Formats: sequence, C-alpha cells, structure tokens
Amino acid sequence: MEYLYCKNDNFQDFASGRVLYGGKGIPNFPIRLLLEIYGRALAYSNKKDDLVIYDPCCGGGYALTILGYFHNKNIRKLYGSDIDEDMVAHAKKNLSLLTDANLKKRKEEIMELYNSYGKESHKEALDSCDKLSSMLVRYISTEIFLADCTMLLPEILPDIIITDVPYGNLVEWEQGKGSMDAMLEQLWRISHDNTVLVVCMDKKQKINFEEWKRLEKQNVGKRKFEILKKK
Ligand SMILES: C[S@@+](CC[C@H](N)C(=O)[O-])C[C@H]1O[C@@H](n2cnc3c(N)ncnc32)[C@H](O)[C@@H]1O
Repeated sequence: MEYLYCKNDNFQDFASGRVLYGGKGIPNFPIRLLLEIYGRALAYSNKKDDLVIYDPCCGGGYALTILGYFHNKNIRKLYGSDIDEDMVAHAKKNLSLLTDANLKKRKEEIMELYNSYGKESHKEALDSCDKLSSMLVRYISTEIFLADCTMLLPEILPDIIITDVPYGNLVEWEQGKGSMDAMLEQLWRISHDNTVLVVCMDKKQKINFEEWKRLEKQNVGKRKFEILKKK
C-alpha cells in the first residue's frame, strides 16, 4: 500500500509507556498506519471539522489518543468503549493526556522518576511531554465507557468510527463466533447516513453484514483494513 497521508517519520515521542501509558497486555497500533488509515477515512467523510470519532474496541485508548494529538484541531469529541474494565480505566488515563493540565501532571510524575533513577529514557520522556503539549491547540471532549460492542450501544452518531478488532494475538473477542457482524450491525444502528467506518482486522477475518458498503480494502502485512459507508 502506498502511503498518501502520512510520511515515514520518527514517532518515538508517542511510544507506548513513554508519555502515553502502556503496560503488559495493553495493545497498541503502528502510528504511521493509523494516521494513514484515518487520513483515508477523512477523505471519504463529507465532514472535515468538528468531528466526532468513536472506537468501540478502544483497548487502552492508544489509537484514540494518537488521533487526538495529530488531528487535534479538527476533532470535537472522542468516544471509546471496551468490554474490559481495566482497558476502560487505562483508556481514560491515556485520553486524559489530551489536556495541558494533565500533561503537566504526567511530566511531574516522570520528573520524579528521573530524580529517583536518573534514567536517560525518563529524560527523553520529559522532552516528549513538551512536544505533545505543543500539539494541543483545542479542548477535545472525551468519553470512555464500558460496553460490549456486539450488544446495544448508545446512539452517539459518530462521523468516523475507527477500530482495531480483536484477532487473537493479544486479545480475543469476548463473544463467540459472528462477533464481527454483530458489532457491524450495532455500529450501523448508532451511525448517521454519512458515518465512515474503518475496521482493521486480521487478513482471515471476514465481514458478512451487508448493510455497510465497502469503499476500500487494503492488505498491510498480516493485517487488512476496510473502509465502509452505509448503503
Ligand atoms: C486489538 S485491541 C484494540 C486496540 C486499540 N485500538 C488500541 O489502540 O489500543 C481489541 C480490544 O477489543 C476488546 N474487546 C473484545 N471483545 C469485545 C467486545 N465484544 N466489545 C468491545 N470490546 C471488545 C478487547 O478488550 C481489546 O481491548
């Protein structure tokens, strides 16, 4: 796949565990690929500003937080949900880093670590805090909630839904077979006519629910993503 929306860059300031909170069992997503996928979804969206974004399998909120930094001025609200309480708690912590005040607190936390252990990695993380802070130009409202996305979801009418579904490396669907289509049905119900949906999945996973029309499909390494709109 040719990258159209994100050049090859060094994204180390955003590495999980550096400023953004990471940890064992917390999934994350390659940043360049995420930004490319989002760029493509945005190109299909008839709305470019004041966007409402939703990730129904948000894990630790890594992808949403990254989007909150890189597309700061065009996003109004970030919604995330996950079936796992620990993930929801983790996502809340990461999304909280989208305000200057909380980023400052995070910097103080890292400063304490640096003072105690004198590690170079902590010093670098302090510089990264400043870099992240310079990217914040507006307040983004955030809401993270506990939900099984194959069941009834609140009607949040997102403009773009972007999600990396479970595929068994680190995390499995918490429901049985057919979860993908059950999720797509729910997302269809809570979307407006122009919502753009992006699903990142394992190459072997399939979409059967037919009320979404496929706009694009790309294979990238062991993953694929599909971009869809309501029929
Ligand atoms: C691949 S991870 C998502 C990674 C996330 N995009 C990130 O940036 O960190 C998939 C997530 O789906 C969640 N999950 C599994 N079954 C679910 C369900 N039925 N409803 C909602 N979330 C589910 C898992 O708890 C896991 O956090």
